[in-house]
Amino acid sequence: MASNGRLAGKNAIITGAAGGIGLETSILFTKEGASVIMADISEPALEKALAKVKQLVPSARVETKKCDVSKEAEVKALVDAADAWGGLDIMFNNAGIMHAQDDDAVNTPENVWDLTHNINVKGVWFGCKHAVLALRRNGKKRASIINTASVVALVGAATPQLAYTASKGAVLALTRELAMVHAREGFRFNNLCPAPLNTPLLQDWLGDDQPKRMRREIHFPAGRFGEAVEQAHAVVFLASDESSFVNGHDFAVDGGMTKAYVTPEGPAAPAPQNNAGKDSL
Ligand SMILES: NC(=O)c1ccc[n+]([C@@H]2O[C@H](COP(=O)([O-])OP(=O)(O)OC[C@H]3O[C@@H](n4cnc5c(N)ncnc54)[C@H](O)[C@@H]3O)[C@@H](O)[C@H]2O)c1
Repeated sequence: MASNGRLAGKNAIITGAAGGIGLETSILFTKEGASVIMADISEPALEKALAKVKQLVPSARVETKKCDVSKEAEVKALVDAADAWGGLDIMFNNAGIMHAQDDDAVNTPENVWDLTHNINVKGVWFGCKHAVLALRRNGKKRASIINTASVVALVGAATPQLAYTASKGAVLALTRELAMVHAREGFRFNNLCPAPLNTPLLQDWLGDDQPKRMRREIHFPAGRFGEAVEQAHAVVFLASDESSFVNGHDFAVDGGMTKAYVTPEGPAAPAPQNNAGKDSL
């Protein structure tokens, strides 16, 4: 464990830690000296992710815990598990789903709406609630809670996923409110707003369909989607004391996408490599 890292001495919980942003963040957090509990609904994926973290950061103090964030008892048990280390300092409520049947106002099935909101909104609420209770219980005077929203909560898309978009808008609003409520306790709450990422899922879905690809890529000033590790670096900053005066913020990590009108032409700018490699994302 890095005793001089940017997160040295801090205990962190990461939900949705088995892949993508959560896994890349688990790697960077442990590299920066945090003790990490990686949580996910998928136990096999969690085991694979844990092996990857241990391979890349052999000194890591890291554990896993299966948790469905839409079940309050499971979230409570997850947060309580950090008490053995002296209580959590960082909560990254990152688990979220985007359902394949999510669509527009007419075509989104009600059960898809409910499932999406149970995980994406209620899951974040439960994470915040039990984090606050644990922080108070353990006498913490400062803490950072980071909730993953999305750029679709900031700008509209004519490729609708209405339940998902509404759920991420709710995350923005609840995070902002909690930032105000708990500011004098020293507990900060910020939103991470990722732009679409270069995941195998997205790339397979876009395939060789150039018009479909261009319809999205053209909105990125650098001509490319984001990488999970770029989100993880932002989360390290929000989790660390370096961001002590950053509170209630919607931190868009989007390559400038939400600031763009006309974007440049020409080849895309280069992207960084993810630490976990493509197979884990
Ligand atoms: N990938 C993108 O393009 C993108 C863009 C904007 C926002 N986001 C958000 O980022 C977050 C992480 O997404 P990602 O791209 O890394 O996706 P991912 O699918 O790789 O990771 C999400 C993880 O959450 C887990 N999960 C799903 N339901 C759960 C539940 N009920 N309880 C606990 N864990 C559960 C999954 O098993 C998975 O490991 C999500 O909230 C997502 O909405 C992603």
